Amino acid sequence: MTDVVARAAQLLREGRLVAFPTETVYGLGADASSAAAVARLYAAKGRPDDHPVIVHFADAASAFAWAREVPEAARKLAARFWPGPLTLILKRAKLAGDFVTGGQDTVGLRVPSHPVAQALLREFNGAIAAPSANRFGEVSATTAAHVREDLAKEADLVLEGGPSDIGIESTIVDLSGGQAVLLRPGHIGVADLEAALGEKLAAKAADAPRHSGGLERHYAPRTPAQLVEPHELDAEIGKWHAKGSEVAVLAFSRPDERVDYWLRMPKDPAAYAQKLYAALRELDSAGCERILIEAPPADDSWTAVRDRLRRAAA
Ligand code: TXA
Ligand code: MG
Repeated sequence: MTDVVARAAQLLREGRLVAFPTETVYGLGADASSAAAVARLYAAKGRPDDHPVIVHFADAASAFAWAREVPEAARKLAARFWPGPLTLILKRAKLAGDFVTGGQDTVGLRVPSHPVAQALLREFNGAIAAPSANRFGEVSATTAAHVREDLAKEADLVLEGGPSDIGIESTIVDLSGGQAVLLRPGHIGVADLEAALGEKLAAKAADAPRHSGGLERHYAPRTPAQLVEPHELDAEIGKWHAKGSEVAVLAFSRPDERVDYWLRMPKDPAAYAQKLYAALRELDSAGCERILIEAPPADDSWTAVRDRLRRAAA
């Protein structure tokens, strides 16, 4: 592994793009200090250039060097959750150029825990800008094979790191405005954050910083998808079946004979999240007219998964 990691770090120094595994999803990385490298990254993803990108670091000290103010709350969250699936939005220092912040006065910082990401960050000895390694607005990648399906031409190298453990993108907390605000739910939930902070999170303001995960349709398969409440699933299947349409179903329950493609999902939210994007990709490639997704329970432990499903079905 060391050889390929050294090659990956060298490619980053040359301004090229390296896809790498993290514990959440795979990222498509570029040297965060190079405007040219980041421009290449945006072009590869087909991402509008006023969208900010998360910058990755090996440890909290290097991450905080990119912020001009590090509030006590940021130190608490970093101490508790880094390295791990948490992104902090802070006021940017000069190191964070307009090309990574989308021209905003804040920067997104993350210290991933995946050993390959850690090895790459240490070997590169710098900051890596990395959005999820999928095309803009489409389903995120949780294996190296997914990355190759989407970005084979664009990534100069894809580092292998097995399936991502967590499977959905990091929790994003904005601390740039004096209060802690949740911008994107993730594996680290509100109760975990509030316990670490020793206070409640503030409500999201209408003028909250722009973030692409906040666009309504995102993480979306190409096949039209819809969320269906469990008690309506049977009737909804019947409706499509009567029309002679082929549907693919993502559900907790056992397969229904009328359905051509059925994926059964775990009843535990963390296990569900881990399988989610691979499942959406699989259903998308089944070539059906419609994807029906059985809605998970409404309780807090499912917030992050429900958020991704709602957007996939938007
Ligand atoms: O788990 C993750 O966070 C993955 C892995 C690769 O680290 N990355 C990821 O990146 O999900 P991306 O670009 O797909 O989503 C990053 C989100 C976007 O919604 C972006 O707009 C938001 O973070 N973001 C980044 N910097 C921001 C900032 N300064 N203010 C507000 N939102 C920001
Ligand atoms: Mg993304």
